[in-house]
Amino acid sequence: MRQPLVVGNWKMHGNAGGIRSLMAELIEAEGAFSGAEVGVCPPFVFLPMVTELCADLSIRVGAQNVSQHDNGAFTGEVSAAMLAELGAAYVLVGHSERREFFAESSETVAEKFLAAQAHGLTPVLCLGETLQQRERGETEKTVLAQLDTVLAAAGVEAFANSVLAYEPVWAIGTGKTASPEQAQQVHQILREHIAVKDPAVADALRILYGGSIKATNARALFSQPDIDGGLVGGASLEAGQFAAICASMEN
Ligand code: 13P
Repeated sequence: MRQPLVVGNWKMHGNAGGIRSLMAELIEAEGAFSGAEVGVCPPFVFLPMVTELCADLSIRVGAQNVSQHDNGAFTGEVSAAMLAELGAAYVLVGHSERREFFAESSETVAEKFLAAQAHGLTPVLCLGETLQQRERGETEKTVLAQLDTVLAAAGVEAFANSVLAYEPVWAIGTGKTASPEQAQQVHQILREHIAVKDPAVADALRILYGGSIKATNARALFSQPDIDGGLVGGASLEAGQFAAICASMEN
């Protein structure tokens, strides 16, 4: 049985005051999360504050990015060891915004995945196709190529301590959600691909959907057999929306 997981990706939004109020509202709603594991990924600079606010709670904290390097002269970068020291539980790797705007290749994403695991963090590996790729019928090829690069570098066993997030690029921040059937189809492809290598790992692997999740569409998405939760962008910045999304997860 896979424990449902809902993670908020705040991206580069917020300020200390706003985040304090958001967390206060979320903490109040915590009792209604109906057994889902819940996490939030603030910008780096707010990680200490948010981990402190979540210290005695079930809400876990993650980062949005990590360096593939352990330490060294990498101006502006943050290592997995630093994130672990702050008490982060997860880190997003391979988000499409990193792939697109910061030219991260799947090889770099694989290195980040390994760096995260080496320091006890759970990587949330994001995969997804663009609209053009979908229209050319290349959805499966695209997401499997992204997945295969990490599988080749890390081995299937490494996926026992990771989470996948299928985020179709055309659904991110656009208000266009993949239909539950479209999302389920890709989730199933991803799980079956892992199952060929290790059925037990595939069965336990949590695969989140991300892309314009809202309180109004979460339940239909989460009720699909291979959708184990969500990676939520915009709606995670509104406590009421995010709490309602977390509460839509049925065990
Ligand atoms: P939205 O929920 O704003 O579409 O963002 C999804 C996302 O990119 C989460 O990582």
